[in-house]
This record gives sequence, structure tokens and C-alpha cells, in this order.
Amino acid sequence: MAKILVTGGAGFIGSNFVHYVLAHTDVHVTVLDKFTYAASSEALGGLPSDRVEVVRGDICDAFLVDQLVEGIGRDGAVVHYAAESHNDNSLRDSSPFVTTNLVGTFTLLEAVRRHDVRFHHISTDEVYGDLELDDPQRFTEATAYKPSSPYSASKAGADHLVRAWVRSFGVRATLSNCSNNYGPWQHVEKFIPRQVTNLLAGGRVKLYGSGANVRDWIHADDHSSAVWTIINHGKIGETYLIGADGEKSNLDVVRLILEHMGHDPDDFDHVVDRPGHDLRYAIDPTKLRTELGWEPTFTSFEEGLARTIDWYAAHRDWWEPKKAQVEAAYAEKGQ
Ligand code: NAD
Ligand code: DAU
Repeated sequence: MAKILVTGGAGFIGSNFVHYVLAHTDVHVTVLDKFTYAASSEALGGLPSDRVEVVRGDICDAFLVDQLVEGIGRDGAVVHYAAESHNDNSLRDSSPFVTTNLVGTFTLLEAVRRHDVRFHHISTDEVYGDLELDDPQRFTEATAYKPSSPYSASKAGADHLVRAWVRSFGVRATLSNCSNNYGPWQHVEKFIPRQVTNLLAGGRVKLYGSGANVRDWIHADDHSSAVWTIINHGKIGETYLIGADGEKSNLDVVRLILEHMGHDPDDFDHVVDRPGHDLRYAIDPTKLRTELGWEPTFTSFEEGLARTIDWYAAHRDWWEPKKAQVEAAYAEKGQ
């Protein structure tokens, strides 16, 4: 594979993947990103200009997408990360979620179909809805879709489009559904960066509801290595769930953050819960591990979290300008 197109490559996880590919392969990367509020040119800083081209544009722009996909060629691949990604935003205004996540994915599928280019679709465990806290089953590739939020419904719809384009038109695609990512460059609207930067800015930690909700954490570096494994060794038409056995309640995560940052672990605020808040996500990654031999590198969430907290402490210049607007939007909802 000589060239890939990475959509959403200036976002949190897409930029991590770009760094991963540059560090581990000789592949040339073209990033297509609209540079919404969630993008960060800094996350792509310092990359060799002969290996990376960054194109500012919309995945819904059929003309631009067609040109870029054609340029990748039949032996390359499109890796599709671009999305509106934040549940709370989808509850305030669902419109960009429907447009980008559905129409954008459709636009890319039509282009890869026309030019017969390999496609990998990045999705989320949220398409499966939620689990009870004591459910012994975790999500598998066979779990039925039952999305709860406008965000997860738009991602579920996009997944269905990809599978339909594989079956109806022979598009060479794979899919992956990953659990909650953490690590550097995640926007301060998201749970872990929000709490860490609240404390760094002298504010307080904000926990939705009781904090019993469980998320299954994976470091973004491990998501990238899993995606690269699937692109190279996955079977066309197949879906792979990506997870690192990282289940933690939000309450436990909040306590770990407070402790690591030298605060009383019980010194936080309970705030208004998210409407329709999914209770628990949990991934069974057996297929990815046994069929493709993938293993995560970050096996200790506590260690990965500590490194992430240190990263935010060292990158105030990056997150401080974003903080006030995010907190003002949360404050409007009592969060
Ligand atoms: P993010 O919000 O940090 O980044 C999204 C990127 O997509 C941004 O750079 C943004 O500018 C770009 N983008 C948005 N609309 C676009 C458009 N119309 N055209 C081109 N670019 C556009 O998101 P993230 O957390 O990095 O998530 C990336 C992908 O991974 C998404 O598809 C998301 O559903 C999926 N995912 C995320 C997680 C997680 O925990 N964050 C877990 C599983 C799957
Ligand atoms: O599971 C994968 C998904 O993980 C991805 O598909 C999404 O793109 C990504 O945003 C993430 O979704 P969540 O809704 O799980 O992540 P978020 O960081 O918004 O919230 C994580 C948990 O923390 C969730 O239970 C809500 C809670 N929360 C969130 C915020 C922002 C709080 O308790 N307080 C907060 O301030």
C-alpha cells in the first residue's frame, strides 16, 4: 500500500493514527479534514511534508472527495475517521451529525465504489446501545444494533451504509467499532480532558448523575495499532470490535483523576445527568485478538491516565483557548 486518505485526520483519534502510520510504515498520508471546532492543526505538527498532505475540505463535497479518492488509487485505502463525535453536542443540535456522519459516509462510499479503493470505516461501540451493570455478556460483532443518542444513531446508520455498499456493490470495506478512547489531543469537551483541565484551571470536577455509568477505556495508540492491523489483515466485509478490557465506572475515573492531581478523591460535584445516558459499554475483543493477533500496549489504565494528565498539564497553551466556550455551553444545561 503506497497511499492512504485519512478523513478526520486532524481530530483526536485520526491524528493519532496519522502519527502511527508515519512512524511504522513508508505509506504516504493525505488528510481530508473540515477543521471544525474539534480539529487541531497542532496535533499534526512536525510531520514530514514529503509524507503528509493536509487538505482542508468537507467529506460531503462529492467533487473534492472524488478527486482525492481517485488519487489514492486501487492499491491504496481510505480510512474514515471524520465525524461529529460528541454525544452532548448531538443533543443540542443533531443536524451536523446527520449531515457529516451519514451524508459524508455516503459520499465517500460512492467515491470508493467508483474508483474501486479499499475502505476502512471507523465506528463506535455505542451503536449497540447499553448493557446492565451486571450483564455477563459484553458486546460482540453479533450484538444487535440499538443506538440511544442522535450521535450513536448517525454512526449506526453509517455502519449500515458501509455494509450495504459491500454487499450490493462489492466495495472492499472493513469496519471497526471501538470503545472509549483516551490520550493526548482529546478535546476538552470530553469526560477525562474536561475534568483534568477543570482542576488545572482551578475549577471543580463535574460528574453526571451518580457516576455509576461504565465506559470501557482504551488508549488512542492502541486504537491506531488495531485499525492498522485490520486494514492489513482483516477480511473484506468483516467487522472487528476494538477494546482493551478497560471497564471503569465514571465515579472510579473521577476519583483516580482527583487522587493523581493531589486532591481529595471525594471533592467533586454531581451535576445534571445526560438525557438518555447509556449505562454501560463493554467490548469483547476476542475476534480481533484471536483472528488477527492484535494486543493492546496500554494494559494499565491508571498508568495511561497518569501520562494523559501530565500531557494536559504540559499543554495548557493548546487547551486553554477552548475551555471557556465549552464550559459556558455545559453551564447552560446545569452540567
Ligand atoms: P473528533 O471530534 O476529535 O475529530 C473529528 C474530526 O473530524 C475533526 O478533525 C473534524 O474537523 C473532522 N470533521 C468533522 N466533520 C467533518 C466533515 N464534514 N468533513 C471532514 N472532516 C470533518 O473525533 P474523535 O474522537 O477523534 O473520533 C474520530 C472517529 O472515531 C469518529 O468517527 C468517532 O465516531 C470514532 N470513535 C471515537 C471514539 C472516542 O472515544 N472518541 C471511540 C470509538 C469511535
Ligand atoms: O464509546 C465510544 C464513544 O465514546 C465514542 O463513540 C464517542 O465519540 C466518544 O465521545 C465517547 O462517548 P461518551 O459519551 O461515552 O464520552 P464522553 O467523554 O462524552 O463521556 C464519558 C462518560 O462520562 C459518559 O458516561 C458521560 C460522563 N460525563 C461526561 C462529561 C463530559 C460526565 O460524567 N461528566 C462530564 O463532564
